[in-house]
Amino acid sequence: MSDYAKGLEGVIANESALSKVEGLDGRLSYLGYSIDDLVENCSFEEVTHLLHRGKLPNAAELLAFEQELQNDREIPQGVIEFLQSAPKDANPMDVLRTGVSMLGLTDKRAKIGDPDQEANRHVALSLVAKTPVIVAYYHRARQGLSLPPVRNDLSEAGHFLYLITGEEPSAAAIKTLDVAYTLHADHGMNASTFSARVTIATLSDFYAAVTSAIGTLKGPLHGGANEGVIKMLNEIGDLDKVDAFVEDCLANKKKIMGIGHRVYKVLDPRAPHLQKMAIKLTEELGESKWIEMSERIATLMREKKGLNANVDFYSATVYYSLGIPTDLFTPIFAISRMAGWTAQVLEQLEDSRLYRPLTKYVGPAELSPVPPISER
Ligand code: COA
Repeated sequence: MSDYAKGLEGVIANESALSKVEGLDGRLSYLGYSIDDLVENCSFEEVTHLLHRGKLPNAAELLAFEQELQNDREIPQGVIEFLQSAPKDANPMDVLRTGVSMLGLTDKRAKIGDPDQEANRHVALSLVAKTPVIVAYYHRARQGLSLPPVRNDLSEAGHFLYLITGEEPSAAAIKTLDVAYTLHADHGMNASTFSARVTIATLSDFYAAVTSAIGTLKGPLHGGANEGVIKMLNEIGDLDKVDAFVEDCLANKKKIMGIGHRVYKVLDPRAPHLQKMAIKLTEELGESKWIEMSERIATLMREKKGLNANVDFYSATVYYSLGIPTDLFTPIFAISRMAGWTAQVLEQLEDSRLYRPLTKYVGPAELSPVPPISER
């Protein structure tokens, strides 16, 4: 038994009213509304309002909120030039991290440690509005495609799909992505949210906080897992090869992407929603092989390790079935989580205290004199 909390496991570092993650019961709610209820009855815009403003909007509030989002989509020329000149083979998460950071250069509202929460809320909304445009514009630019002007007649999910394809998205595709956005919108003190909170708690600015968060989300143990799932399914190739693949991973202590969770000890409550959508979409495409392989992996991991699928396990198949390129999966996670990161930053600013844990020192016990360089 360790005398410290490695990886801060089990440590409660702050209070939050935003999302309640019930790891033993497999439940997730945002400000007292179950995600099951929210995905049935609310759009991602309503959920973002809930997170940013602490209440579900009425019709007039929703309209004003949507209009502000839609009218704040345009990104500065300097960011567009960066997206057009960035290497075509760059990791889109690196491009997003840099693009979001650049937004802070020109947003005069982004003041260090600004106590004006109403001004901060507009910065938060602006980030939600612009993040998908950065992702989609880079995706187009790297293919040598034109960058269509942003529109103000589409929802967040619809607008992103329109920008990456250049075509009017179907209502079904919009609904699918909208649900995925809601399911990823917030999740307690996950690693990237922690990064955002640590950064803003130094009284840095909004852009610095979400830039930290994007860098943290990129890793394969966090948001990067959804890309890993599709790579893994491609590598396995066929249903009859799943058992041997899982055996090999377990024997060699290799992690299976999309399985396991630090907090959920039962099924991640977001997974069944994504699973349902993945089954429907792959059936429609006549490609049920992906979901069959996934289900077999999930069964084996449950039986052999008592580990369950997490949010990334089925979201990968959902995005794949929507025709979204694999390296945009994690950026899509960032687009959704931008709602939560910004809400958490707003909340941190309400009652902030610098995060400064300790480390257990395990270096040399005794001091040594510094030897002259010729004797080292
Ligand atoms: N595949 C295989 N074994 C896994 C596993 C996975 N995905 N996740 C956990 N395990 C095993 C570990 O090897 C360890 O086994 P051991 O006790 O025999 O050594 C045990 O389960 C505990 O794992 P640990 O890594 O200590 O759990 P954690 O709480 O630190 O990690 C994750 C949680 C999410 C980082 C981990 O489950 C993981 O790496 N999953 C894959 C990446 C992923 O899907 N991330 C997205 C999370 S939403």
